[in-house]
Order: sequence, then C-alpha cells, then structure tokens
Amino acid sequence: MEKLVITGPTPLKGEVVISGAKNAAVAILPATLLINGVCTIENLPNISDVKLYCNILESLGAKIKWNSPHEITVDTRNLNSHIASSDATRKFRASYYLIGALLGRCKEVKVGIPGGCNLGNRPIDQHIKGFEALGAKVDVSNGYITAKAKRLVGTSIYMDVVSVGATMNIMLASVLAEGTTIIDNPAKEPHIVDLANFLNTMGADIRGAGTDTIKINGVKELKGNATYSIVPDQIEAGTFMLAAIASKGDIKVKNCITKHLESIIAKIEEIGGNVEANGDHLRVWYSKRPTKANIKTLPYPGFPTDLQPQMGVVLAQAQGTSIINESIWESRFQYTDELRKMGAHITAQGKTAIFEGVEKLTGAPVSASDLRAGAALIIAGISAKGTTEIYNLTHIDRGYENIEEKFRKLGAKIERVNEE
Ligand code: EPU
Repeated sequence: MEKLVITGPTPLKGEVVISGAKNAAVAILPATLLINGVCTIENLPNISDVKLYCNILESLGAKIKWNSPHEITVDTRNLNSHIASSDATRKFRASYYLIGALLGRCKEVKVGIPGGCNLGNRPIDQHIKGFEALGAKVDVSNGYITAKAKRLVGTSIYMDVVSVGATMNIMLASVLAEGTTIIDNPAKEPHIVDLANFLNTMGADIRGAGTDTIKINGVKELKGNATYSIVPDQIEAGTFMLAAIASKGDIKVKNCITKHLESIIAKIEEIGGNVEANGDHLRVWYSKRPTKANIKTLPYPGFPTDLQPQMGVVLAQAQGTSIINESIWESRFQYTDELRKMGAHITAQGKTAIFEGVEKLTGAPVSASDLRAGAALIIAGISAKGTTEIYNLTHIDRGYENIEEKFRKLGAKIERVNEE
C-alpha cells in the first residue's frame, strides 16, 4: 500500500506550473466520440482519470496515439461499440459523459452506472430529463444505464438544479441533434466553456456557454481535423494558492487564468493573504496569520466546493471562528475527522462546519476520503509540525498530476512510500 509521508512545517517557496483541467479533460475525451474524424488534444493532465478514459475510448473502437504525456491524437472514424462495461465506468464519475456522447453519435448507448468520489447522494435525474426531452428512452436497471432514440430533436430544457455534469451531457447529446437545443439555468464553470470551445473547434455550433442560456444549433457532422488545448485547472491552481497561505509561504502559480480564480483570490485577500496577478501567473504569499471567514460553496462563479476542504485547512489555523456552509455535496466534511486527528478544532454537522482556529496542527496518520480531501490533507501535512502519513492515495492520483513532485519543488518534504 502506498502512502505519502510529509514532514512539516515547511513554508512553500518557488514556482509551480498548473496542468490542464481534469474536469474539462474528462468531458472533452468522450466528446471526441462525436467526431467522425481525427483530432489532437493538447495540455491533457497526466492523471489516472485521463488514462481510464483513453482505455474506454479504445474499447469503443477509437484509435489513440500518444504524441507526448500531455498530447494525444484520437481517430474516432471507426467506432464499433456503444457499450461500456460497469467495470470501466464504476471507477470514476465522469464516465457518465459516455451517455451523452454515444447517444449523440450512435443514438444508442449502454454504460455501467458511474462511480467516483463518495460525496453523498449523486443523482443524475437532470441528465436523464435532458436526454428524454431530446427524444431518448432511458432505462436504469441491473447496474446499467441504457438510452436509445430513433431521432434526437432539439428542444428547450430548464435545469432544476445547476449541474455541471447534466449541462455537459445535454450539450454532448444535442450537438448532432436536429434543430436547436436551449439549456436554461446551466452550469457556467470554465470547463463548460472549454467543452463548448472544443466542440465548436471540431465543427459544432454552440453559443452562450458560460452565460445563463446555452444555445446548441445541431449540425450534421463534426469533422474534426483540428487541434485543441485544454484550459488550465483552476482547482489545481487554487489548491496551490491555499497551500501557500496555510504553509506561510510565498509562491508563483504559473499557467493559470486569473479570471477563473476571482472567488478564491477574494477570499484569500479577505482573510489577510496576499495575491498579485500578472498575466497568466499569480504570486500568492503569507504575511500574517489569516483571520476567520464565513464561506458558502456555490456553483461558478461562487466559491467552488472543490476547494472547500483546502480552504478548511487554512481556516482550521486562522484566528477566530469560521463557518463553512457546503451547499453542493452532502458528505464533503469527512476530511474534518482527519484534521481533528492533527489537532484541529472543528465541529461538522450536515452541511455546516465550524472551525475554531488553532495556532498549529500536528502530524498524524490520516486517510484521504476523496480527491479534494486528499489535497487538503497534503496541505495540512506541509503546514503541521511533525510527520503526517496520508493513506488511500488513489483518489489523489485520479485528479492531480505529479502532486508530490510539484510540492517537493516548492520545498515540501514529501515522499511516496510503498508500505508492504
Ligand atoms: N444534481 C442533481 N441532479 C442531477 C445532477 C446533479 O440533483 O442530475 C445535484 C447534485 O446532487 C449536487 C449538485 O446538483 O448537489 C451539483 O452537481 P453537479 O452535477 O454539478 O456535479 P457533478 O457534475 O457530478 C462536477 C465535478 C465535481 C464538482 C461538481 C460541482 C466532474 C467530473 N465532477 O460533478 O468535481 O464537485 O461538478 O462543481 O466534473 C472533483 O473534481 O473533486 C469533483 C467532485
């Protein structure tokens, strides 16, 4: 079993280069299934979710050539299947994009129920509502989701809840549909815009991604023959920014889009941290102990749930009592059990957690319950006194490229150890 061993505290110093966005990559990869041609994707993050997706694409008949660890050329002219086994799909959440993509391309799909981080109830009713509105018949039984349509016809779809996955899945299913699809109340995350930009580069006609209404004019075919570069990962950037503050450091975060980080920059400044934006990079530095803050996670452009645990580590060491209200996921405070083992004073109940800031955390053996919890525990380990051992690393490897190497370059004492 692998574990990360971190000895702290270390104030992070130096530069880190942000990789391509995980949550854009895991939508763009299945989107290649809609192309009757060849395309090249650059700036792919080198993470296990991307590798899993490439394996699934190959099992469906796609030909993938790795030009470098961050660039692939995909040929989806000769697909030979519309079925993905539950063995493949249960390993990660984003496998649900196969439904929209294969329904769009083949008008028929059968995929295993998606897995992913355990963050509480993760319904897909809004995805299904969208597919049905476009004319598909959808069935969920025996661990599989099947969807089938004679024709997919554009229509207006109002999302009852703002959902990243449902917005992207409906975009995928409607790109090749007849007529126009309107999605009202869609998610507006940078990866929604990135998926639309990718599809448009390949020949789709999608307008308004990132606004309150997305309009998809169906096209007959996506020809591809183009190259697309994935947007930088704003959650990875935010993770390092918060690590700089928690560790009392001073770092430069390179290759990021500062516009995507406004809610994080505002919170860091509110608690007394310092941020200086300069083109595609940011300097983030600590100058005094952070003060308390209240945070509510919200869909973009609000404060992202995917940075809530990392922010929790900062507030656990801030001056005063902070409150975090997690409005997206039911079970995203599991990391607070681990932080308590490190000396934090946190009470979590339901979707609210109260952080009574302590002067310092102390190292302890802890376990990553999900991807962002894992990132938060690394930050905690770097800022804590003593040795922290983090178990259950598969979650972390699913979404962060070379995380320990990137932290090591910033001065962290962090090693991956294989424990028999
Ligand atoms: N929801 C419904 N019905 C649906 C879909 C969602 O009620 O049909 C609810 C969910 O229960 C949740 C809220 O709507 O309360 C938002 O869920 P959303 O669909 O936006 O989440 P998701 O698409 O499953 C993606 C990211 C998550 C990220 C959320 C929110 C991917 C693969 N996953 O999940 O990322 O937390 O959006 O931004 O893009 C992560 O990267 O660590 C991660 C968990």
